Amino acid sequence: MKEKLERLKKEVLEKLNAVKDIGILRDLEIKIMGRKGELTEILRQLNELSLEQKKSIGKFANDIKLELAERFKQAAEILEKEKKHAFVDLTLPGEGIRRGHLHPLTQVQNEFEDIFSSLGFMILDGPELESDYFNFEALNITKLHPARDMQDTFYVARTHADSTGTDADKTATDLVMRTHTSPVQIRAMKKYGAPLRCIVPGRCFRSEATDVRHEHTLNQIEGLMIDKDISWADMKGVLEAVVRRLYGSETKLRMRPKFYPFVEPGNNGEITCFLCKGVGCRLCKQSGWLEIVGSGMVHPKVLVAGGIDPKIYQGFAFGFGLDRLAMLKYNISDIRLLNGGDLRFLEQF
Ligand code: PHE
Repeated sequence: MKEKLERLKKEVLEKLNAVKDIGILRDLEIKIMGRKGELTEILRQLNELSLEQKKSIGKFANDIKLELAERFKQAAEILEKEKKHAFVDLTLPGEGIRRGHLHPLTQVQNEFEDIFSSLGFMILDGPELESDYFNFEALNITKLHPARDMQDTFYVARTHADSTGTDADKTATDLVMRTHTSPVQIRAMKKYGAPLRCIVPGRCFRSEATDVRHEHTLNQIEGLMIDKDISWADMKGVLEAVVRRLYGSETKLRMRPKFYPFVEPGNNGEITCFLCKGVGCRLCKQSGWLEIVGSGMVHPKVLVAGGIDPKIYQGFAFGFGLDRLAMLKYNISDIRLLNGGDLRFLEQF
């Protein structure tokens, strides 16, 4: 019996010296000292011995039990302390942290901002909830003008209690979710006057029946340049420089007439398809051209609304559809994916 106890003690002390983990230590403690532990089993066998034998072994066995209990306690204390001052091995390879990245729309927007800031344009923004006046009226889109149909939007009723706090006026509908970034043209002219060079990236909203090419929330980049002696040639020159920086130096820009109430004359800008270089392919629907920007010379009425004298200053304005640019660039087939927030989609860019 004595030998058995000695052997167990030796074994346990060796293991205690080697153990590095508090969990493993606890398991070992249960295995030895627990109710069904090895030591407990041996001690139980003492009962079967004669009185004589009990006397000679009893104290010996109990001492071993006390000593092991003390050793377990010490080992646990040491491990707990080490845990607090955990050793960090700086030479081990690090644990990779999953990194996100910029949304494809933001990437395209950043490219634009870089190009235009290098051309001396300010980057501005404006409110998404806009007054009917800034979004339409001041841009020469009068109340009953059919051009409003193209940009139907969400009208927001302003409800405010009158001074008696009784009747709420629910009829005023002079706030809209802006349908384009063009209202910031007026805001910028009022704030900075002429000469002026700015771009305005931002979210816009339209009451659309959504499909692969239409979304109720869209992103545009507006541009405005006002100075003395600004002509159509300046507009074409700036836009050409920009599309060449974006899509390569052989890119051609062509302009075809298009009506926008806030410019005169107005046009649609199309670039040679960057996929087929103008030959005709699936992307450009075999035409060789991609429509990417609306632009024109700022209408005199719009200059006046912005507090600028059209007899002294002229300017041009343009609007890029950011969603369309990103869709073309990354070959995205459904505009709704852009706002969907689906990581399986976003992780591809
Ligand atoms: N605001 C126009 C649109 O949303 C685009 C545009 C801007 C056209 C500036 C001409 C000049 O369709």
